[in-house]
Amino acid sequence: MCGIFGYVGSREDAGSLVIKGLKKLEYRGYDSWGVAVQTNAHIEVSKDVGRISGVDHEQFKHSSGLAIAHSRWATHGGVTKQNAHPHLSEDGKIAVVHNGIIENYLELKKMLQKKGHTFKSETDTEVIPHLIQDLKKDGMTLEDAVRAACQMFTGRYGILVLDTETHALVAARTGSPLIVGVGEGEYFIASDIPAFLEQTRIVNYLDDGEMVCLESNKAIFRSIETGKEIQKRKIEIAWKVEDTEKGEYEHYMLKEIMDQKESIIRAVHQDEEQIMTLAKAIKDCVGCILSACGTAGKACMAADYFFSIIAKRHVNFVPSSEFKIYHHFLLPESLIVVVSQSGETADVLEAMKTAKEAGSKVLAIVNVEGSSVARAADYTLLINAGPERAVASTKALTGQMAVLMLIAYAVAGKLNEGRMALLEAGAKINDMLNPRYIDHIKGIAEVLHHHKDMYIIGKSWNYPMALESAIKIQEVSYIHAQGFAAGELKHGPIALIEEGTPCIALMGNDEVTADMLSNIMELKARGATIIAVSPERHEIFDHWIKVPDAGPAQPIVNIIPIQILSYYLAVLKGKDPDMPRNLAKSVTVK
Ligand code: F6R
Repeated sequence: MCGIFGYVGSREDAGSLVIKGLKKLEYRGYDSWGVAVQTNAHIEVSKDVGRISGVDHEQFKHSSGLAIAHSRWATHGGVTKQNAHPHLSEDGKIAVVHNGIIENYLELKKMLQKKGHTFKSETDTEVIPHLIQDLKKDGMTLEDAVRAACQMFTGRYGILVLDTETHALVAARTGSPLIVGVGEGEYFIASDIPAFLEQTRIVNYLDDGEMVCLESNKAIFRSIETGKEIQKRKIEIAWKVEDTEKGEYEHYMLKEIMDQKESIIRAVHQDEEQIMTLAKAIKDCVGCILSACGTAGKACMAADYFFSIIAKRHVNFVPSSEFKIYHHFLLPESLIVVVSQSGETADVLEAMKTAKEAGSKVLAIVNVEGSSVARAADYTLLINAGPERAVASTKALTGQMAVLMLIAYAVAGKLNEGRMALLEAGAKINDMLNPRYIDHIKGIAEVLHHHKDMYIIGKSWNYPMALESAIKIQEVSYIHAQGFAAGELKHGPIALIEEGTPCIALMGNDEVTADMLSNIMELKARGATIIAVSPERHEIFDHWIKVPDAGPAQPIVNIIPIQILSYYLAVLKGKDPDMPRNLAKSVTVK
């Protein structure tokens, strides 16, 4: 959450460069935006509410080689121009952008107010430049003042500081991602790589508890705690600029749905030795807990079924935001498998911390190489879905499920069989995602988009997909949607069904098909309109979305038409599916 981008170097258009780069990070926050550019000995700040995408970057072509910019996802203080970042120090010489939360900001604000500082916003962020100015006045260098300020903060943050006196940028991180892009005689720093991917693919990751001072020709990394210099490894990023563009598609969400023609097959191409090592770790551990948030959590729930049915093994899913409570029974022999697209989700990182404190080993399944989760884990598997920019996760989910299913097969000693099943499912998805199919689902969205409520049912591994369907429909179309285990309906929720209520049923050709048909009959008897996602047609369906029969990969296949349906429900309701209200990609606050 919140996009941060800064530049220091020999170019003279730093202002427009950071605005252009920030547009690539808009998915991280889109309440308001702001930029600070150093011109001569002054800082020029422009900010406003609304999205950065509409801002003309040309107007920031000041002749300057130093600038920082920010797109906000509000935590402290409403969405106003005053609250938008950057925030300035009392003397206007220091500008700061920030991602995260400074928990003790009220205490610090009171202390600074007593010293005569005045505040213009309701944010926690504004204390940062004031505090740095206050510390600098005692003769500290910018770097020392930032370090001392960080030692006074509690909470999780990524901050970027621009100072007119030193002509440098200083950044520090505890919990929120910051990555340095290394150019020739210039440095970039951002909360995510796409901001500077056009300029450089060489990066240094800032780790928790670290800070960096960037001038055009040098970058010095230090520990916030000790001030000792840290040597950093340069890493080359494999992503290409085209991977981060939406190309011929109107929205990233649709592009990423269509990417699943290939991304599932990429996820399956894992190093055999590594998969076998992980399968052994799962077999040898005393208790395996899967943990993740939101959509990634639904991949873990599906994995409960994969492990049970394919590997005859019990694993347990715990949402990362609830994980801490489980520390009572974690052991050094426990294995925690965390799953995250971004690898930056605060709740997931917190769950990993809890696991590490108990001495347990952590396996991470992530999409973003070099992310905080990937670097903190004992073992990491990449799903290789490519960059996911739409806020609603689509291709990452199916990649996560593919990798988890592959591991379940490996635990069962049937890795090859699993690989073949997934490759076959990948090929079937490729065939399925044709224009006629998409149009058919769009037609169903046209029928449904005026409804206020929708219910989705599934059984076995389609149950987590019913929950995931509800997330997708809610978050992009704002239609109230709820997912249920099909058999649970008659225990309460069936009271909600009225004449014409849309009910989506996710089905396979499996041992629970007959039960699903009975549950659908119960709904139909109360007047529900049945939209079935199923390999076979049955006469009780009002609308049928045909899916290939994919065996254990059925949940991977079944969720894709619902992603398409959600997309068109949003578009038909005039909503932007890429940037739903109140949300942002990569939830870096708890
Ligand atoms: C919903 C969605 C979220 C994320 C969740 C975890 O479409 O994208 O529910 O799945 O915030 O994010 P990651 O996977 O980045 O940890």
